[in-house]
Amino acid sequence: MSAADLQLKGPQALYEDWERGQWSPFGIDLGPDRADWDGLSEEERSLILFALSSLMVAEERITTQFTGLVMAYDSEEEATFLATQQVDEARHMQHYARVQNEVIADPGAIVAHVARSRAQLSDAFNVIFDDKLVAAHLALVAEPRNRSAKVGFVTIYHVVIEGTLGLTSFHFITRLLNQRHLLPGFVEGYTKIHHDEQRHIAYGTWFCARRSAPNRGWRTTCVALCASCFPSSRRRSTRRERRTRRYSGRAPRRSVSLPSTGSLAA
Ligand SMILES: [Fe+2]
Ligand SMILES: [Fe+2]
Repeated sequence: MSAADLQLKGPQALYEDWERGQWSPFGIDLGPDRADWDGLSEEERSLILFALSSLMVAEERITTQFTGLVMAYDSEEEATFLATQQVDEARHMQHYARVQNEVIADPGAIVAHVARSRAQLSDAFNVIFDDKLVAAHLALVAEPRNRSAKVGFVTIYHVVIEGTLGLTSFHFITRLLNQRHLLPGFVEGYTKIHHDEQRHIAYGTWFCARRSAPNRGWRTTCVALCASCFPSSRRRSTRRERRTRRYSGRAPRRSVSLPSTGSLAA
């Protein structure tokens, strides 16, 4: 099957999906999560805090480093969809900040949550989220009509960060928490975020297949950027992450039942 044979949703269909998938981070009950958090050991808190920190920092980065793509729209339908993605990313950041405020019980401005969270992460995280993403965004802000800059930004943002790192993190973190029967409100919000992210990844796939792949130069840009990012992605696996993986393999400690993630579809 060639790229031309793929049945892909375009910006208008993805916008209509967004209209049907509205939710609020302030509508989720985090009371059970606070009780869970209070009962955790220091080791468990440290490991879960690491996972939450990576999400807090990533969501801040992809919320604040996005406006350039909205400016680079090629049609009114694409501008409409990209505006919804900007709102989605801000909503996601609000969910993680609310968890910090109400579950970890350490209320503060988002900038303070991000600063604390950054201390938990490895330098490889900075390579993708500070160096490559920020550089690609600045290039697009400087020249919104530059198609090479748009291809580069969508490759790093939608293909590498959302389509590779984001999906992997979601499956790993929700499996860990569901196995341990922990933080049901956080998992509910994260699952709704995951459904939003599937729309974003669908946009990136549509853009790469329909707007980039037909041009050999842009196709080469996309492949080269992926190759340059994936070594840093692998280096994100630090000693703490490996400990977290071992932790997730242990038998569940509690018998509290959680709603299945499948019932939480937006
Ligand atoms: Fe997001
Ligand atoms: Fe996203």
